[in-house]
Amino acid sequence: MTDDNVVLRDWTDPIFSEEEGVWIYKDILRSGKPGEAIIYKWFNGSGTFMAGALGDNPNGQKLFKSFKTTPDENYKNFDYDTYYEKVFRPIAIKGESKITPFKRFNAKMYEDMGNQGPFGGMLLPFDYNVYYETGKPKESVAKAVQDPLIQMMYGPLFKYYMMDKFMYFMGIEKGWTIPFSGKMEARWMRQDATLMINHSITKESMACESCHTSKEKGVMSYEDLGYTLERIKDLRNLEELKLIKK
Ligand code: HEC
Repeated sequence: MTDDNVVLRDWTDPIFSEEEGVWIYKDILRSGKPGEAIIYKWFNGSGTFMAGALGDNPNGQKLFKSFKTTPDENYKNFDYDTYYEKVFRPIAIKGESKITPFKRFNAKMYEDMGNQGPFGGMLLPFDYNVYYETGKPKESVAKAVQDPLIQMMYGPLFKYYMMDKFMYFMGIEKGWTIPFSGKMEARWMRQDATLMINHSITKESMACESCHTSKEKGVMSYEDLGYTLERIKDLRNLEELKLIKK
């Protein structure tokens, strides 16, 4: 994967594209680098949270975490470790996890300040006609939330059928408000999304040494994948590879 791959995208500060003749988002980072753009995670094949894959290292050591949250000021004292063990680990360990490559992605968007929690807030939609034509993202949100469909979605039915449960996972205990509070702010998502890699695949596959090598040279971090120190040492100094080379 090359630099046509977007990793960080800011929707809240559009730039005018001469080529397209419209206002568009700003890409802050494009990259194809392992560790930066491509990351390896344990994935149980079905669980996700905030567009991030859930899974666990089957070694049962609880060294692997499916995501890392960068909290806002207001949630600095929230006990993320305990919450992870209580709410996410039981979901993450379900099924059979495999190490899976993902595209790392994060975006800056507008959030409803009336619906905030330790893992982020309710994202607000854009009206793309307004966005592309005027380059005014806040006005584009204001237009989008007046749409009858969004009004219905951000209303009582949505609350009872979906959001009460969803907000529980988001760690929002104090309840949340419908409809849209009218207060919005631009924020990056507090944890990266991990997107499936299912296009732009190149023919050259990896060699054993792509993974079984030093931390600096390798494409995956055994530390982040929750291996024990002893196991990490083995995986970086495989006897088998020495035999193959001979
Ligand atoms: C994409 C990364 C990747 C590539 C490429 C890769 N491996 Fe591995 N390999 C791993 C990981 C991760 C483990 C540990 C799996 C586990 O036990 O959780 C592993 C485990 C092993 C083990 C088991 C070691 C033990 O002590 O149990 C051997 C042997 C091994 N690999 C050999 C190879 C050989 C030979 C190649 C090339 C033909 C290769 N690997 C290519 C990631 C890779």
